[in-house]
Formats: sequence, structure tokens, C-alpha cells
Amino acid sequence: MTVAMIAVLLAQAPAGNYDEAKVPHYTLPAALGDVTTKADWPARRAAILEMFQREMYGRSGPRPKGVRFQMLETGSGALGGKAVRKQIRVDALIEVLLYLPSEAKGPVPVFLGLNYTGNQGVTLDPAVRVSTAWMRQPDNPRGGQASRWSIKRALDAGYGVATAYYGDLDPDFDDGFQNGIHPLFYRPGQTKPAADEWGSVGAWAWGLSRILDYLEQDKDVDAKRVAVLGHSRLGKAALWAGAQDERFGMVISNDSGAGGAALSKRIYGETVKDLNDRFPHWFAANFRKYNANECALPFDQHMLIALVAPRPVYVCSAQDDQWADPKGEFLSALHADPVYRLLAGDGLPVKEMPAIHQPAMGRVGYHIRAGKHDVTDYDWRQWIEFANRHWKPKK
Ligand code: GCU
Repeated sequence: MTVAMIAVLLAQAPAGNYDEAKVPHYTLPAALGDVTTKADWPARRAAILEMFQREMYGRSGPRPKGVRFQMLETGSGALGGKAVRKQIRVDALIEVLLYLPSEAKGPVPVFLGLNYTGNQGVTLDPAVRVSTAWMRQPDNPRGGQASRWSIKRALDAGYGVATAYYGDLDPDFDDGFQNGIHPLFYRPGQTKPAADEWGSVGAWAWGLSRILDYLEQDKDVDAKRVAVLGHSRLGKAALWAGAQDERFGMVISNDSGAGGAALSKRIYGETVKDLNDRFPHWFAANFRKYNANECALPFDQHMLIALVAPRPVYVCSAQDDQWADPKGEFLSALHADPVYRLLAGDGLPVKEMPAIHQPAMGRVGYHIRAGKHDVTDYDWRQWIEFANRHWKPKK
């Protein structure tokens, strides 16, 4: 089989169940478990986190000591005068592109997410450095994914935007973990992650935390207000980053689907087996125990969202993205609500799935928009609105 043939196979999503009547009867563990007081939540949180580490995403490498940040380039008057641009190398590994509003009077909150095509793909700004790392596709022009990055809108609202290329951390294909960051953490003699150790989703999430390490020491950034976001497989990574690293002040999941916000036990659209068969490098090997065996999972994805509590979390779906199971994404947000209510007295303001373009925003937020699996300006407008509710930036 040629590489092109494999690419075509991967692009074709397997059939899957799209019939609500065929969703099996399933029981979700209560996110709170037996917890009835705030004081008892940290122990429950630690136990849930441990399950996700061991059984699904795998244990991540540690935060390295003495990480170096190198300012590669800065420019003012970028993006038609709206932005100050900074390009930073984090420990010879990750190249971060950061835009801050030119008008900022002090440290600003930042939206942070990884991108799929290199930093040059998110904007037409000719000064953005072109990624030379492994590429998912051969041609990644400047601005090729700009429609997914409403940077000017965020700047106008007083937010910064930071991004880095996910391939800087781990190329997105199964090579037995020879490339990317995993080998940097192998014990002597180790050649691949153990069954309870991280895959690529874990590596991407780890990278988001390393970028936050940088943002924490940039005096132009309000690092307690960094919203980690991601689309699709990078939405899975954003949720996992926000679940583990409590320094992230907000988490936004866009169309993250199976292995992200969507409940696994519904077996609607993409299943655990689909994930593990088609992307064997994404999760810990232990996760394969649940192939065609979702009922054995001791947790479900609502508990991942609950790990973000009490920090604001926002889940988005798209109507034509049934592969990602919009209803399962909504139900995760809904079933995380009791943890938010206990810790913050506020959660998801609705009990039924909202109609198209009717965002529900409390401390937990959710929307479903018309259209396909993608990130649109509509999504960004809601994220900004959601962030404004919690962190209205000074202008
Ligand atoms: C595939 C995969 C999804 C993933 C998506 C993406 O469709 O099955 O799990 O979210 O790719 O990353 O675009």
C-alpha cells in the first residue's frame, strides 16, 4: 500500500452508528462520586486524574528543569497596526507565535492553541517564521488556515493569541514513538512508552503547558488568564492539558469528539476502537482494553471536563459533525455540571441540548453551530463572549 492510499483510508471515517435509537443503555459514574463537600473534591479529583492517566491518555513526561526561552523576533504594528508580534523558541523545541493588542495598557489574557500547519498557516503576516518541522501535508501556505484563527477579532476585544505547530512536539503518525519528544524521556533501555505512558495527545498537551511556562514569565501576559483551546484532535489535547495543568484559567474544546468531550459509552459516531485502530499513536496502549468494550471504562469524558472545575470550560459542536457526536459532547458538559455547582455555585445553565446558534453560558458553556467539522468566526465570537463574562479585559 502506498502512502497516498493510506492517507485516503485515514480520511474516510468508518461507518459508525448515527442512530440515536441504537445508542445502548449505559450508566455513567457520577463525576462527584460520593463527594458532598468542597473539601472532599481534591482527593476525588486526584483519583479521576490518575484513572485518565493510567487508562487513556497515559502519564506525561515531567516539566523539565531550566527550560530556556529565546526571543527570535519581535515586531510592532503587525496585522494592520493592531498587534505586537513576538516569536519565541521554547527549549530548542517549540516555536511560539504570540500576538498582543497594540493598545494594551497592561498584561492581557491570552487564547492559546496549537495549529495543524505551522505558525505561518494561521495568518498572512509575512514576518511569521515558516515552520521547518515535519509536515502533515507538503504545502502549507501562509494564511492557509487563517479562517480558523480570528486573531484580529480577539485583539480588538483585548486578548492576545498564542499558537505553535503541533508537529514541533510530536509528528502525527505512528512511528513507534521514535520521533517527537517521547524519546527524550525514555529510561535507559526504554524504546517506547509503557502501556500507561503518554501518546501523541499527551505530548501535545505537555507542549501547551510548556508554552504556558513561557507565558508566565512574559510581563505583557496575564498568565492566570490563559484560555487553552483546540479543535478536533487538538481539542482532545486542549482538554487534557487543561485537566492536568490547573494553571490554565479556562479551557475551550471545539469539535473534539471521541477521546475529547464526547461520551465514549454512547457509542455514537467515532468509537474507542475507531480511535485506537486508526490513530494507534494518540493514546496510551492501555486504552485499547476498551476497544468495543466501552462499558468497562471506569470513567467517561464528563469526568475529564469535571477535572477543569471550577475554572470556566466551554464545549462546542457542529451540526454536520456527527462523527464527533454533538449530543455526546453536550452530555459531557451537562454531567460535569454537579462538580461546578458544588465548587463554584454555577455550571451549565441548561438541562436540554440547546438549538443551533443558541449558546448556553454559565461557568460551563456549550454551543452547537450549523456547518461542518471546522473552526469558524462564529466559534471565536462565542469564545470571546464567554471569556468576557469571566475575565472582561481592561481596554
Ligand atoms: C478524525 C478523527 C477524530 C479527530 C479528527 C481531527 O476524524 O477520527 O477523532 O478529532 O480526525 O482531528 O480532525
